[in-house]
Order: sequence, then C-alpha cells, then structure tokens
Amino acid sequence: MKFFIDTADVAEIREASAMGLVDGVTTNPSLVAKTGRKFRDLLEEICDVVRGPVSAEAVSLDYEGMMKEARDLSRLKSNIVVKLPLTTEGLKSVKTCKSEGIPTNVTLCFSANQALLAAKAGATYISPFVGRLDDISENGMDLIADVLQIYRNYRLDTQVLVASVRHPVHVLQAAKMGADVATCPFSVLKQLAAHPLTEIGIQRFLKDWEKVPR
Ligand code: G3P
Repeated sequence: MKFFIDTADVAEIREASAMGLVDGVTTNPSLVAKTGRKFRDLLEEICDVVRGPVSAEAVSLDYEGMMKEARDLSRLKSNIVVKLPLTTEGLKSVKTCKSEGIPTNVTLCFSANQALLAAKAGATYISPFVGRLDDISENGMDLIADVLQIYRNYRLDTQVLVASVRHPVHVLQAAKMGADVATCPFSVLKQLAAHPLTEIGIQRFLKDWEKVPR
C-alpha cells in the first residue's frame, strides 16, 4: 500500500520523507490556508521535495474554470495531480483531463455510486473521506470496502485513495482491504510507528545495559 501525507506543511513532508513514508502528498484548500503561503510557491517547493504525485485542488465550480486551473496546475510541475470535486462539472473535467493526459484525484467522495462515476469518467484516484463519514455516524471504511468491490468487479483501474484518515485503525483496515493508497496526517504516520511495548522494551534494555561492564 502506498502512503501519501495529507498536509501542505513542507517541514512535515521533509520529516516524513526522511523516514521513507512518503509516496506522495495530498493537499486541500484548508491545509494550504494553514500555511499562510502563496499556493504556487508552496506547490513548487513540495514538488521539489517529493518525486511522487502531489495533489493540488482546483477551486472553480464550473467546467471552464476547472479546466483552466487543471491545465495551469499541470504545467507547473510534472508530478502534480489535479484534485477535482465529485460534482457533474467535476466529472466532465475529469473526462477532459483524462483525454489531455492530466492525472486527477476526485475528492469529496461519500458514496460508492459517486466512486463508480469517477472511475467511468477516467479518474486516476478516487478519494472517499472516511473520517467525515464516521463524524456523521456512518462507517467510512464500509464505503472503502464497497468501492474496492465495485472496482474489482469491473476491473476499473482508478486507484482507491483513503482520505480523511483520522487514526491508525483506518490505515490497518485500508491495508487489510487492499486499498491502493492511504493519505494520512503526519500525526497518524507517527502513531503508526509507536507502540508502548517498543518504548518499554527500549527503556528496559537501556537499564540493563548500564550493568554491562565497559
Ligand atoms: O485531504 C482531504 C482529507 O484528507 C481531509 O481530511 O480530516 O479534514 O476530514 P479531514
């Protein structure tokens, strides 16, 4: 399974990359706003740090606007993936992007039918938001299972990118189901490495090491 980091914070991206945990990056307007930086400068810097796909979101709501943004973004760096919303205008844009060779990540997906449409339009990635479904008392990971089943039924090659990941259990379930990608906040990536018995074990070994004659 590929790990993407869900952040626009370059320091976090550099740190996670140094641990070998970054196959790609996903950003969104909220994450970009947190940095206080200019979008294009920020994107260029992220793309210089990470060779893998970097998702950058278009904010237009209409087809013409989305396509203008998609073309501009894809010209900026070769590893940019254009993030488009799961709307009818977004689907039209996905289809055109596909014909122009622009990779896309279809975002704000909350149902299996939406995911089916994105794949038929030619999306490179589909981003079902599992945490936001959990927030409204649905089971986000059930959606991932449904999307994977449907894509396998019809051999659709859109990659399932588990988004809105909030904790390590989301990642574990995604891996067991065979999702293609999980995009995680840096905090979750660090949680994946942590185990209390690892920490206790280190402390015990260090204590015993003090007794070893040197
Ligand atoms: O990148 C989109 C997604 O991961 C957002 O997550 O936590 O704001 O629902 P969250």
